[in-house]
This record gives sequence, C-alpha cells and structure tokens, in this order.
Amino acid sequence: MNIRSTPEIDDSAIAVIDLGGQYCHLIGRRLRDIGVHSEIFDSQVSSNDVAKFAGIILSGGPQSVYGKRAPTIDPSILDLGRPVLGICYGHQLLAKMKGSKVAKGRPEYGESMLTLKKGDCLFAGTPPQQTVWMSHGDSILELSPGMEPLAKTETCEIAAYGDLSRKLFGVQFHPEVGHTQFGSQVLENFSLDICGIRKQRHSAGRVERLLEGIRRRAAGRSVFFFVSGGVDSTVAFALCAQALGRERVLGVYVDTGLMRKNETVELSSLLSSAGLQDRLKVRDESGRFLAALEGETDPEKKRHIIGRLFVKVQSDAMREYGIDGEHWLLGQGTIYPDTVESGGTNAATALIKTHHNRCEEVRTLMAGGRVIEPLSEYYKDEVRSIGKEIGLADKLTGRWPFPGPGLAIRCLGRRGQRQAVQVDREVAAQFKGYEGFRFPIRSVGVQGDGRTYREALALRGPLVYDRLADLSSKICNSNRRYNRVIVEIKNKGDLRAGFVIPATLNSARIEKLREADHIVKTIMEEHDLTNQVWQFPTILIPVSFVGGEGETVVLRPVNSEDGMTASFGRLPEVAIREIAERICQSPLIDAVFLDTTNKPPATIEWE
Ligand code: XMP
Repeated sequence: MNIRSTPEIDDSAIAVIDLGGQYCHLIGRRLRDIGVHSEIFDSQVSSNDVAKFAGIILSGGPQSVYGKRAPTIDPSILDLGRPVLGICYGHQLLAKMKGSKVAKGRPEYGESMLTLKKGDCLFAGTPPQQTVWMSHGDSILELSPGMEPLAKTETCEIAAYGDLSRKLFGVQFHPEVGHTQFGSQVLENFSLDICGIRKQRHSAGRVERLLEGIRRRAAGRSVFFFVSGGVDSTVAFALCAQALGRERVLGVYVDTGLMRKNETVELSSLLSSAGLQDRLKVRDESGRFLAALEGETDPEKKRHIIGRLFVKVQSDAMREYGIDGEHWLLGQGTIYPDTVESGGTNAATALIKTHHNRCEEVRTLMAGGRVIEPLSEYYKDEVRSIGKEIGLADKLTGRWPFPGPGLAIRCLGRRGQRQAVQVDREVAAQFKGYEGFRFPIRSVGVQGDGRTYREALALRGPLVYDRLADLSSKICNSNRRYNRVIVEIKNKGDLRAGFVIPATLNSARIEKLREADHIVKTIMEEHDLTNQVWQFPTILIPVSFVGGEGETVVLRPVNSEDGMTASFGRLPEVAIREIAERICQSPLIDAVFLDTTNKPPATIEWE
C-alpha cells in the first residue's frame, strides 16, 4: 500500500519502505530537499510495486529483528538488483536477511562520533570523523561474506557496511535527522551516485498548491479553527483565510488556563499584523480544564483528558456560533511530527505521546471527512517558511513552539508517599567532579524508536557543557533506570536532603509554573537570546529541598530543526544563572536545574 508520495513520481525515484520508524517520513523530506523524488510504502509492499524505482531505502523501526512482531520485507525485493540502503532497524534487517549476525549490543541514544573505515562511495565528500545520531539497542555482530564494514563508533563496531558489488548498504545511525552532520550528503551519495538518479529542481509553487488544495478540500464550506497562538495553527488559519477569503474562516482562541502569561493579548496583537484580529473570538474555559485535570498524574491520561475536553469545548463553541457540519469544516494546525509521534502513520510506529489533535473524537471527525489539516505533511521549519512566504510577521513565525496541552504537560505530579532523593554512587566513581542523585520522578523519553518512561538523574558539578553532554549520553546509554540528566544551577537547600512530595495538577501549581516560565521568557529577551534556542520549556517537578511546600523548576532550552531530534541548548552561563536567581526569589521555588539531555534519549517536553 502506498502511504504518501511526492508529486510527479518518475522511474528515477527512491522507494522508502516504512518499518515503523519515527523518522520514516523525514527520509522522504530529506530526499525532497536534495531534489530526489520518493514514495513511501508500508512493509507489506510487493517487489513488483517497487521494481520501477531506482533504489530502495529501508527505514528504522522500534522492534528488534528477532522480536515477535518484527516487520520484514518481501525477500524478492532484494533480488531486484536495485541498490538498497538500510537505516537503523533497516540496516539490521538487511544484514540479517543476507546472513549476517545481529544481537543485543550496547545501546546508543543521541549523539555519537562516527569514524570511517572507507571514506568513498556512501561517505564520499565527508570527513573521517563526523557526528551522527543513533537510537538503537541491537547491533550487527558479524557481517556475512561480501559485506564489509564502512564505519564504526566507540560502542558499535559495524556502524555502516557495504556490499559494493551488490550495492547493498546499511547505516546504524539516522542520516535523515538534522543532527547527523553529513546525513544529507550520505543520502545524496546513495541516491545520486549509487542509484544514479538525476537531481530534480526544487518544486516551486508550494503555497499555490497548498491554497488550491484547501479550496478543493473545503468544496464551498467554511473553516472553523481553534487557534492556540502557536506557529502551526496560526499559519494554517492564515492559509485558509487566503485560500477561501477572510469571511469564510473563524478562529477561536480557548484560554485553557494552561497557557503562558499574557498569551491572549499577545496573540491578538500578532493576528492583527496579519489583518485577522476580527476573525478571532476568545473563550475563557480555564475552570473546565483545570477541574478535569485535577488529581491526574499520568502523562498519557492528562493528554487524553485535554484532547477530549478540547473536542467538547469545540462542539459547544460551534453550536453557540451556529457552525454546522454541512457548511463548516474543523481546521487544525497539525504538522507531521504530531501524527508520527502519536503512532499515526503505520501500525508498526510506536506511540510516543498522544497529541491533543489526534484524540479519539478528532479521529472520528476525521473519519467523517470533517477535518482539514493543510500542514499535516510538513515539518516545523517548513511551516515557518510557508508562514513567511504568505507574509506573516517574523515575530509570529519565529515563536518558540508551544504544545496544545500547554503547561499541563510541564507540571509533573506524583502520587504516594514522600520519597527521598538517593545518592547514585556510580556517577562520582565514573565522572570526576560530579555527584549524582536519583530523582524518583519519571518523564517520557524516546529510545530505539520506542517510548520510555524513566527517572531523572540530578547532578551536582560544574556547568561545563561538553562534559555534561558526554556524561548524559553515557549514563542514558548504559543505565536503564534513566532517560534524562539534569544539573543543579541553584538550590536553597542541600541536594542530598531533597525529597519528592506527592502533588497533582492544580491551579496554584500551574500559576507557580507560569510565573517561572514568564521569567525565562523575559530574561531571554533581555539578553537578546530568544533566537538562540528553538524552544525553551520550563518544567515544574514536585521535589523539595527546604522542608516546606517549595518545589523545583527545570529549564529545558533545546535546539532542533523540526522537533524530531534535539540537542540541549548551550546558553551563556550568566543568563542561566540570572534566570535561576530570579526564579528562586519566589518562596515557592527551592531549586532550579538545567536539563542537559538530547532527544533521543529524552523527549523535548517532559510528558
Ligand atoms: P517532544 O516532547 O515529543 O516534542 O519531543 C516535540 C515537539 O512537539 C511539541 N509537542 C506538541 N505539540 N500538541 C502540539 O501541538 C501536543 O500534544 C504536543 N506534544 C509535544 C513539543 O512542544 C515539541 O516542540
């Protein structure tokens, strides 16, 4: 079955076989950036269906090749004589199908240093050492005859291989993610040099095609939007207004009580720059959202509660404004990662987090053909450039992403008894100058293309980013207890005397978090650092150090291109310390930490 194709496919394109990887669609996008067409197929595709393609890429996936539900491919695909490139799980699957030995190896999540053994062919034009991004538990132990190792990392002896005569290649890392330094070059070498594809010119007229698509889909109906103030929903709203005319769109901004400080005022002013302020209505629904979330601590349940309530609020608002199903569609600013991380493209893709615009009720509306999502094939950086192309102000298109469920997924709760923070002796033994403390509080991560829900390791030691990066990645790769590492910036008490307190979501805690988040935003603006990071979540965790009701704030600045992978932001120490000082002026906050984990192994948001 064909899942998605770029327009105008010809026989010099690549077939991408989706084995359930988080980044499968990103392969298509990277190829598109290079000027190569591709078509994405699920793993059941027959060799006949891919026979006309100039090359085949096997994507990554969350399974082990020996797992019960491990996806595989029609073996005759490998007899077509076409060049094949396996990525991550695809690298292991291809090797196994050709008789190599794959087994549990030492896991690697996030950044790794790749050393080339053979610098030509797949790696032509790239340096002998290069940064790559990994996300795997299994590894290839032994290659079958004909296959030779092309590169290694410190923990993975066969990080790339090639069978040059049969043109079969595998890379354990992900060349498609923006953080892999020469990933695009590897994909270009494979598609242009090895498969012999001729580069196409970049497809022009993207906005025209989008506008035309909206008109066709709307078929005379108007579009009703819930605008969150984020880039995606605002760009989708503005696109629909351009396609259909201002009078055929209506936006509603729901104040869920989970938004950032002064968000309503800021959004109105941003929309007025697009001439759309009079197409917006504001509804205060904070009481309903906070009441529904009261007492909940499970991240997925919180997301489902918010998603369901959004739909209820939506239908109330639609009834009130006289919006019927016959004349109106529901517009959403869903972008591609929202779909893929909700486990939405392929049965084999793991659920990482359920995004609010993919809850059950919205899926029902979608099945009834009542939803329009003009940006669902695009990534954040593409949405930003589309926004610029249609004339939206930089202040709007450059905003830090803010998730639909808002501060709720940044305000962590915990049920049960108080529990003391525990010393982790291994850290001090292994990493000179640092002490480690186990925080019995869990957050969501993504490791080996699957979801994890693990504890955080808190460190006391110098704020030296290179050492912290090394330490974080070593700890999360080797210790299954942790998927996140944070470092102490300021503490009114003693880290050793900390304890996790029972806490649930309530308006007082949200208010505490909102104030801390506002301090972050203000100081970043004062230091002119807003554009130095891609996003900057502020998290509240129920960890006390002084003995009262005080809690802990974690700063999570990240750099990313599209939200699919991220590296922690390395901001000037003076700004980080100033933020921590100012946040700790509140008697309600005991300590401030900085999250120094990449994605993978952690996700950007904590829940
Ligand atoms: P994670 O935490 O999965 O986030 O690394 C990747 C990007 O997605 C944003 N995000 C969301 N956006 N609805 C949204 O509109 C959601 O439910 C949601 N959850 C995460 C997150 O802020 C980051 O930019």
